[in-house]
Amino acid sequence: MTGSFDLRLTRMPLNNGNGRMPALGFGTLIPDAAETITATRDALEAGFRHLDCAERYRNEREVGEALQAGMAAGGIWREGIFVTTKLWNTNHRPERVEPAFEASLNRLGLEYLDLYLIHTPFAFQPGDEQDPRDQNGNVLYDNGVTLLDTWRAMESLVERGRCRAIGLSDVTLNELTPLYESARIKPAVVQVEAHPFLPETELLEFCKERGIVLLAFAPLGHGITPGLLEDPVISAIAARVGKTPAQVLLAWAVQRGTAFLTTPRTAARARENFNISALPEDAFNEINRIQTRQRLNPVVKTGIPGFIPRAS
Ligand SMILES: NC(=O)c1ccc[n+]([C@@H]2O[C@H](COP(=O)([O-])OP(=O)(O)OC[C@H]3O[C@@H](n4cnc5c(N)ncnc54)[C@H](OP(=O)(O)O)[C@@H]3O)[C@@H](O)[C@H]2O)c1
Repeated sequence: MTGSFDLRLTRMPLNNGNGRMPALGFGTLIPDAAETITATRDALEAGFRHLDCAERYRNEREVGEALQAGMAAGGIWREGIFVTTKLWNTNHRPERVEPAFEASLNRLGLEYLDLYLIHTPFAFQPGDEQDPRDQNGNVLYDNGVTLLDTWRAMESLVERGRCRAIGLSDVTLNELTPLYESARIKPAVVQVEAHPFLPETELLEFCKERGIVLLAFAPLGHGITPGLLEDPVISAIAARVGKTPAQVLLAWAVQRGTAFLTTPRTAARARENFNISALPEDAFNEINRIQTRQRLNPVVKTGIPGFIPRAS
């Protein structure tokens, strides 16, 4: 997708017909509570209408507070906002899914969710300890539940009208394919790490063929330096088109048919990351030809989040 279309307005239809997801998403993985509130407020003011949350981020209450304040100030209403949150690894047992969902909804102060994701395909020992470990510091996994068991409980949330769509995060095709085939309600969104150093082309093709939205996290490379933002191809294109490297990377993500999550923490960065515009075709193709390959977040292999402080 290249040309003059206003990327900021891109909304991606969900494969169950239950609405559309704004391609430009604000991720709320922010450890500090006060900063969560100001960053969420700034993101809404900049124009973001898609909020990505998680019970594991331990700040749903603050996100909800900023969202309620935004709606009270006017110009933002619930139907105009797309809110996602995620089921944590310790709640994969089917009987734990609905209570975890309702607790998240309650912290967010909402009546329904647009999207509920299984945060990772790894089940941890059930309980209130989000990071269960043995004496040697090894994660305690739960072999008593399958991903499909958890998915069935997620499906019933949609069937009962509690959330509009369900999906998965941190999955590979090996996990997604069998689940997709067995699912009564197909996954609407798959959230994974994706950027020019990890384009996930095969997964993206699989998703496109089935109308699944691929939602990219780490589109700017998680802020790791040197990294994507300093890549010479990206910097040269930024200089040529009069945009910042971040804007180039975010535009590329939308133009290739994915949605993205970014976490600007200041008002200026929120405006910068929202104000993207389409890249010319030659620039888009140049980014597609980047050869560097690098996965930044190991969560997909272990279920252990790479960039969230350990739960205390
Ligand atoms: N499903 C999962 O397992 C998973 C894992 C990770 C993240 N996520 C989601 O993805 C969201 C996005 O997080 P991310 O780390 O992946 O985002 P990212 O955009 O790849 O990286 C954020 C980093 O980029 C920097 N940054 C942001 N805007 C910038 C700009 N305009 N110019 C230069 N640097 C900029 C930030 O710097 P500062 O710190 O200085 O602001 C921060 O260090 C999270 O909030 C969360 O919702 C999901």
